[in-house]
This record gives sequence, structure tokens and C-alpha cells, in this order.
Amino acid sequence: MTEDTERLLAADLAPATHDEQARQAFVSALRRHVMVDLAAAMRASWEQQVAPRFERRYGRPAADGLEVRRAMRNQPIYRFWSVLRYNAQEMTWQSVLPQIERHLPALREAAKTARRRQQGSLRLDPDLALPREYTALDIHLMPGNFHTEDGPDDVRQGALYELGTAVFGSGLQLRRRGAVGLSMAHFLRLAQPDFRPARILDLGCTVGANTLPYAEVYPEAAVHGIDLSAPQLRFALARAQANGYAVHFSQQNAEHTDFPDGYFDLIVSSFFLHELPTASTQRVFREAHRLLAPGGLMLHMELPPAAAVDPYYNFFLDWDAYHNNEPHYAEFRRQDFADLCERAGFARHRFIQRRIGNWTVTDADTFAAIARGEREAPAHGNGASWFVFGAWK
Ligand SMILES: C[S@@+](CC[C@H](N)C(=O)[O-])C[C@H]1O[C@@H](n2cnc3c(N)ncnc32)[C@H](O)[C@@H]1O
Repeated sequence: MTEDTERLLAADLAPATHDEQARQAFVSALRRHVMVDLAAAMRASWEQQVAPRFERRYGRPAADGLEVRRAMRNQPIYRFWSVLRYNAQEMTWQSVLPQIERHLPALREAAKTARRRQQGSLRLDPDLALPREYTALDIHLMPGNFHTEDGPDDVRQGALYELGTAVFGSGLQLRRRGAVGLSMAHFLRLAQPDFRPARILDLGCTVGANTLPYAEVYPEAAVHGIDLSAPQLRFALARAQANGYAVHFSQQNAEHTDFPDGYFDLIVSSFFLHELPTASTQRVFREAHRLLAPGGLMLHMELPPAAAVDPYYNFFLDWDAYHNNEPHYAEFRRQDFADLCERAGFARHRFIQRRIGNWTVTDADTFAAIARGEREAPAHGNGASWFVFGAWK
């Protein structure tokens, strides 16, 4: 499965009109302009003007992202960049909603048909309590958040996430769909050739774009994905089938699942933990520790911790905490990830953290050399590399 071959189910079933395509292409280009061109100009303004002023005033460089934020907050370039970024975020979802609304009956029908097929499975739990901190916000400014549903077969929010994130990332060459799952799975295959997980669990899988690569790289494994949101999971099953994969999806809270002790050999997640309150992260880690068999691995892709990057990049990354309805983002990144794992029961010396290559934009030899630790991964940013951490049980 690659960028070229992966089927975006919603794009197949809900084709865009010419005008919608033009609008979506505009939003992707606008996002690229904001995240690449304007972002570079903003960094230059920090380095050449704002940081020297800060140092003259305080007699030292800025100590953390918060200090950079305070110094940058009233700079015209930051205000312009931030407003444009916020609007581009809202426009991302608005650019795909009419297309989805128009084709909703076909999308629902596809999800219903998928449930009747013997390829993978879907368990939903209509009684699952959704935490208030999850339902109270439109995370990523996505209207209706992940979970809103209109009736028992609804998939609108799944289609919205799938098509919206395609618009979100497609202007950024380095942010391809499924790239994180592909990179993590191939990293494991290359760095740990003797590790052959028989059961794999993806936490907070959403529509499963980053779940499917594990089924591709470990075809003998049973691959599971869990999420709180029924409409994402309905969509994920149909989407997995459309790409030829049998994946088992279930609606569960990653803090306490119904799988037996030691059931999984590999537990993964991507872009998941920073959306949880930090107390919840701790419960998710304890649950992962319970679910792993001895010798199993928990591995998360996340934004790098605050301690691993410079104050300016912390300021840049933490924008989402203030403006993108991701209130736990900055606090999550301020934690010590090794401590987090240890508190959940993992031995300190079994902790790992590192940057890995992006499989979809790196040639195979370079990717393998990075995976084996023979070469440094590129610096973090726009998907040039991914930060992963976790622990072996
Ligand atoms: C940003 S998305 C993850 C994206 C996805 N992993 C990917 O790579 O495309 C976060 C997901 O976590 C889910 N989620 C949030 N809290 C959860 C919890 N406690 N248990 C399970 N899923 C949760 C949300 O419904 C959402 O689908």
C-alpha cells in the first residue's frame, strides 16, 4: 500500500465536483504556504530581530517555548501567520463537507455492506461512556469532533476526517497518508528482524490510515484498532476492506479495554497521546502494559517532547494547544516520557525513544541505515522524520 495505491474510500464513493476540487486544492496550497513559506519567514524574523531583542533585554536567550510565545505574540508576522493558519484549518473541513453531505447515503450503505462481509470485523458499544473532555470540544476545529453521529449507521465524521486530512496534508509533500504506520512498521521490520508480532493493537486508530500498514508489513498478524468513535470505526472497516485488509475494529476506551492480559505482542499509536489529558495517558500506559505479552513492545509516534527540541520549535509546535482545540498538547510534551513508561510498569532500561525516517519519502537504503542506527534521521518537521517512543515489556 503506498500513497499511489491506497484507496481513499470517501474519494471513490463521494466524488468531488470540479469546483470542490479547485477549492480543496486551494486550501492545500494555502496550508503549504502557511506551514512552509510563511513559517520560514516567521522563524527568520525570530532569529534576526525578536531573539536578539530578547537577549539584549534579559541578558540571556529565551529559555522555553512560553518565553518565545510571549515575545512573538504581538509581532505582526506571528499574528498574520496564526490567523491564516486558523482559517486554513477551518477551511480544510469546510472544503470537503458539501461533498460528504451530498454522498452520505452511499457512504452509509458502504459501511453497512462492509459489516456483512467476512473480512475483518467491527464491534460497537452503544453504552460506552464518552469522556466529557472528549465530547466538549471540536478537536482540530473539526465540526462535530470525531464522535458525533446521526443514527446507527452514520459515517459522516469518518468521511470528514478522511477527506479533510487528505486536504490538510496533500500540499505538504512529506505528509502522506499512512506514512506514519508505514514508517513505524518498516522501522520495526528492519531494526528488529526477529520480532514477529502475532497480534497488533493500534490505539486511537480513527479511520485506520496508519493501522493498515501493520497488516501489510506483518501479513500473518491479527491487527486490531480501537477508538472511542463509532462513525470513525464504521468508516475504518469499510476503508480497510476497500484496501484489501482484514482488520478487527472495536469501540473501546484505551484506558480500559476488554482484551485479556498479555493478548498483544505489539501496541502502537500515532498522533493519539497528545489528545488525552495527562492523567488519562498514564491509565492508557498501564492498560498497554497489562495487554502486552512478555517480550512485547509498546511504540507511540508523537510530537517530540519539549526537552528534545529548541525553544522556538516548542513555541511553533504548541500553537495547536492554544488555537486548535488540543488543550493537552503542550502539557503532554512537557512530560518525561521515560518516567511515564516506568510509572506504568515498564522497566527503565527497556525504554526507547528516537527519530525514524519517513518511509514514503526516503530511499530504502537510507531508511534502513536510519532504522539500524547507522545514520541520523533528519530533523523533525513537516514529516521529514517521526519521533517515536515506548518500551519493551
Ligand atoms: C488524532 S486522532 C488519531 C489519528 C490516527 N491514529 C491516525 O494516525 O490517523 C485521535 C483519535 O483518538 C481517539 N480517542 C481519543 N481518546 C480516546 C480513548 N480514550 N480511547 C480510544 N480512542 C480515543 C479519537 O476518537 C480519535 O479518533
